[in-house]
Amino acid sequence: MNPQQLRIIGAALAILVVFILGYRLTRAGKPYPGLLFNAHKLLALAAAALVGIHVYRAGQSAPLSAGAWAAAVVTALCVVGLFATGAVLSLAKPAPEIVRALHHLAPYLAMAAGAVTLWLL
Ligand code: HEM
Repeated sequence: MNPQQLRIIGAALAILVVFILGYRLTRAGKPYPGLLFNAHKLLALAAAALVGIHVYRAGQSAPLSAGAWAAAVVTALCVVGLFATGAVLSLAKPAPEIVRALHHLAPYLAMAAGAVTLWLL
């Protein structure tokens, strides 16, 4: 298996665990269990880094199409939004309902835009 395939498989597994832990965090509620919360956050960071490296390397070997750029920007915005809303959710005081709703919706948008990005590379 080559490094590109390993990165994508690693990212896919990390994302799967991020989703599972995310649902468990929602079910557990505040105060969020520290281990689940930190694993969710760190695996999200690892997955974002692996996908980012993959897209960057693909862009080095051949220029990205306009469509791939657009999908990559939408994916990156969703991921930044997930980190920002995740940080607000983790504060001790209750988060505004809109922040929670965005953190529940953005994972699916990020997955769709990320899949389109990888498909267009
Ligand atoms: C790629 C990034 C991320 C993805 C894909 C993601 C995904 C998810 C998903 C699918 C859920 C469950 C939503 C539901 O029950 O419908 C969730 C919940 C949660 N996530 Fe994330 N997440 C990401 C990053 C983060 C980060 C960086 C943090 C913290 C800094 C965070 C904190 C939380 C918290 C606190 C919950 C529980 C929300 C609640 O109580 O409703 N997430 N996440």
